[in-house]
Amino acid sequence: MIHDPNETRPSASEATDDLSSETGNAPSPDALHLRRIRSFVTRAGRVSTGQRRAMDEFGPRFVVPFSGEQPDWNIVFGRAAPRVLEIGFGMGATTAEIAAHRAGDDFLGVEVHEPGVGALLKLIGEQSLTNIRIIQHDAVEVLEQMIAPESLDGVHIFFPDPWHKARHHKRRLIQPKFVALLVSRLKPGAYLHCATDWQNYAEQMLEVLGAEPALENTADGYAPRPEYRPVTKFERRGLRLGHGVWDLVFRRRSGN
Ligand SMILES: C[S@@+](CC[C@H](N)C(=O)[O-])C[C@H]1O[C@@H](n2cnc3c(N)ncnc32)[C@H](O)[C@@H]1O
Repeated sequence: MIHDPNETRPSASEATDDLSSETGNAPSPDALHLRRIRSFVTRAGRVSTGQRRAMDEFGPRFVVPFSGEQPDWNIVFGRAAPRVLEIGFGMGATTAEIAAHRAGDDFLGVEVHEPGVGALLKLIGEQSLTNIRIIQHDAVEVLEQMIAPESLDGVHIFFPDPWHKARHHKRRLIQPKFVALLVSRLKPGAYLHCATDWQNYAEQMLEVLGAEPALENTADGYAPRPEYRPVTKFERRGLRLGHGVWDLVFRRRSGN
């Protein structure tokens, strides 16, 4: 694992993961709902003074509150432009860099970790970026409730939590059901770009994405890193140590 565990990963123990019936009591339907397996653990994480200031100053313009309705995203972004959803942007450095280089595209970043939201808002302010909006919420619910079918031009999922232990693999984001939801939100021809530095997860991604009939691989297996995805400092350090990084770029088939 080559990412800084303190910067972008849940700090809570993976052992707290399995909330399912260990008590022996039959759970109520409400409890079952609450126990839906999630791809993240809620962590307290300290918001720095600079991040808090950015949240106060830029939050009202750039943070979109989660809601059960689909906003008119052209109004939210103030224009009609190709729209890319990023899931789990961490501290947002990659998001900001891509948005700065692709000024003609709009980026909707979804992240549950509050300091990450503050960090990206800080970058938005420092770089005067206008083509990013943020939702601080579970991406599964955002996709289900706030994103219209066939409305996205792209999706980025960079270094999603790998959930190393086999018994936690059920928490991994890239699973057939989630991929089917994602695909339903992509326009025909739109792309899905995933990257991971965990080989076993890369193999799972290739298998799951390859098995989704509505997707086609743009490469023969793993893809070369598209030049818009910057190499992060953790990735660079890992590569120096001989670790691998795998990019996967699929497209939604036009006939599906
Ligand atoms: C390992 S970090 C990677 C962060 C960043 N993409 C990077 O490359 O450094 C994964 C991030 O995904 C976020 N995350 C995991 N599941 C999520 C979900 N369902 N909705 C929103 N964010 C999620 C976590 O909070 C975490 O910040």
